[in-house]
Amino acid sequence: MAHAEAASPLPVGTRHAVSGEGRRPPYHPPDTACRVPTALLLAVLVWPAVAAAAGDAARGRVVFAIAGGCGCHTTSDGPVAAGGRELKTPFGTFYAPNITPDPDTGIGRWSDAEIITAIRAGETRSGRVEAPVMPYYQYAGMSDGDVQDLVAYLRTLAPVRRANRPAEVRIPFAHLAYRAWRLLFAARVNPAAAAPTDPLARGRYLADHVAICTDCHTPRDRFGAPDTGLYLAGTETGPDGDPVPNITPDRATGIGKWTENDIVQLLQTGMKRDMDNVQGLMGEVVDGVGGGPGYAQVPESELRSIAKYLRTVPPVRHQVGGD
Ligand code: HEC
Repeated sequence: MAHAEAASPLPVGTRHAVSGEGRRPPYHPPDTACRVPTALLLAVLVWPAVAAAAGDAARGRVVFAIAGGCGCHTTSDGPVAAGGRELKTPFGTFYAPNITPDPDTGIGRWSDAEIITAIRAGETRSGRVEAPVMPYYQYAGMSDGDVQDLVAYLRTLAPVRRANRPAEVRIPFAHLAYRAWRLLFAARVNPAAAAPTDPLARGRYLADHVAICTDCHTPRDRFGAPDTGLYLAGTETGPDGDPVPNITPDRATGIGKWTENDIVQLLQTGMKRDMDNVQGLMGEVVDGVGGGPGYAQVPESELRSIAKYLRTVPPVRHQVGGD
């Protein structure tokens, strides 16, 4: 993957948004009625261009980077987004699917609307509800503009032929269970057409719905739903079984002593306040996985919004790990 445009200055979600999932701008033929054949011809020629213009792939790359490079979909040796990565949970082992544009094993035949429904509503093209290992309930709040740009970027990835591996789950009637789970626990978030621009609101939006800091840093209850009382307060058993620290501003057990700059530096470089480097999953979302982009490629203004927001969340005293 080329890193040439890595430092893209384009802020995410500030372009004008198209409302409605995957709806495309209508094609307006010239208004003289007798030009119908010309209009038809034009429509045929122009339509693919209009369809392809639904999202902006360059901005989508920034959304992808803010989403930690959608790292769950990439094994450490790549290729980016080709799936196959093993995700162990208390409910069984899942293998993230191939989300490259390969027509047979990836999402090459899916329409934009179908991909957006999978990302935000956790429902695949065949009508199956995804297991909540896929954090669709967080992406549910991703704005129309951002999700469309993200889809446009996914379509630019190199198609990789790699068949999906079925999950090994320990739940009876798993797909019905996922449907019930969605009904019970997936908040009905109504995504905005455009992402917020005010720094604090934007930081919250990015942390909760795009970078999903929330998903790793908030413990889950026994139903696998985020424990809202411990929002961002860390967990002994993160997505890969390792501890994830408390990042609320609690001074004793969280990151209350970190400045805004400390947080920005961590997101840009992976270096903690004590000059140690983050490891494991946090290292992955910062650096990206398999050569793809991560937080390190995100414009500083976006990371600063996240840092500003983090310093305003309610401090929760919750000790994770021995130190
Ligand atoms: C895929 C899971 C995952 C995601 C997503 C994630 N983190 Fe982390 N984060 C971790 C893990 C695991 C660690 C512990 C790393 C270590 O100790 O080396 C960590 C460490 C940190 C630390 C260091 C805290 C300390 O006390 O050392 C901060 C700050 C942090 N994350 C902030 C964030 C922010 C902000 C976001 C969203 C922009 C985020 N994280 C998204 C898993 C994640």
